[in-house]
Amino acid sequence: MQTIQDMTAALKAVQQKRPLRVLGLESSCDETAAAIVEDGRKVLSDVIFSQVDLHALYGGVVPEIASRAHVDACDRVIDQALTDAGMTLRDVDVLAVTCGPGLVGALLTGVSCMKGLSYTSRKPLVPVNHIEGHVSANYVSTPDLEPPFLCLVVSGGHTHLVQVKDYGEYELLGQTRDDAAGEAFDKAARVLGLNYPGGPLLSKLAEEGDPEYLKLPKPKLDGEFDFSFSGLKTAFLNACHKMEQKGETLPRADLAASFEQAVVNQLCDAAFRAVKATGAKTLCLAGGVSANRRLREQMAQMAIRRGVRLCMPKLRYCTDNGVMIASAGYYRALKGEVAPLSLNAVPDLKLIP
Ligand code: KG4
Ligand code: ZN
Repeated sequence: MQTIQDMTAALKAVQQKRPLRVLGLESSCDETAAAIVEDGRKVLSDVIFSQVDLHALYGGVVPEIASRAHVDACDRVIDQALTDAGMTLRDVDVLAVTCGPGLVGALLTGVSCMKGLSYTSRKPLVPVNHIEGHVSANYVSTPDLEPPFLCLVVSGGHTHLVQVKDYGEYELLGQTRDDAAGEAFDKAARVLGLNYPGGPLLSKLAEEGDPEYLKLPKPKLDGEFDFSFSGLKTAFLNACHKMEQKGETLPRADLAASFEQAVVNQLCDAAFRAVKATGAKTLCLAGGVSANRRLREQMAQMAIRRGVRLCMPKLRYCTDNGVMIASAGYYRALKGEVAPLSLNAVPDLKLIP
């Protein structure tokens, strides 16, 4: 039996090694992804198997289908990541896996797979928080980026504004009171008849639209850096239903652009209020929604005006991927964090306990 002491010893044996190569596996939602990253920054391989086609038929992720597809894909993406890097498992120093937050069955397949790999190869296994993974995508995309910085994490399940004080050290400044930004995009997209995943499709449709077409309410919030998207979503839904009841054809592109603009304004306003309040010099974006073009452009313009450095993940590293897990795993490994073989999936794992 491999004990936590064995794992710790195995990690200690490689901790000082450079380059340190981490094989990361991500399976928290509907992407099975594996990657090998050197010293937390240099990508040696990056394989993503997307299940989008499997779920599109149902208009959203079906957890049972996701788990089964991960079981099928885990081995294959790992093999491919090793092949692409021109390596065998022997050349890998540390294994890293997403253990939460996410869908429990989906997480469990990845966690079980990596526990098996760790047991048979005797390589240390590092547990990674998916949200920390998203933050870490910035270390790969901007090689000279070092904490401290502010990070706006905007994904399908999370909207957090955090102060990254050091590697793995966070202070929560604000979060959503209801829906996550990506969830809001997906719900609005559905109203416009767009399929899953709606965010990128709504964004594409919005390119042709007038963002001033529909005025949407700004939420009133107690927390200075908090977010709320449910009022926006209800107002949007009501406006669409009213038009439909009157027999009007929905100006879909204008509606999409107006919704997108309202979400982007809220994200940008809170992020730059936090920049001002904390005196931060660097702001990073992270998560699936950080792939949104309007968000990236508006953030870039505001950052220039305020003299703030803005870092954004490359588009491929905004949505779920294995690279971000391998990078986060590297920094956790440096801190000596290993998982026992009793490691479990934690669907509601918090970034800041
Ligand atoms: O980070 P991610 O891949 O998964 C989670 O951890 O949740 O984020 C997925 C979310 C989905 O809600 C998707 O609609 C949204 O990110 N998204 C976008 C764009 N690309 C992905 N939302 C708006 N514009 C985009 N271009
Ligand atoms: Zn994600």
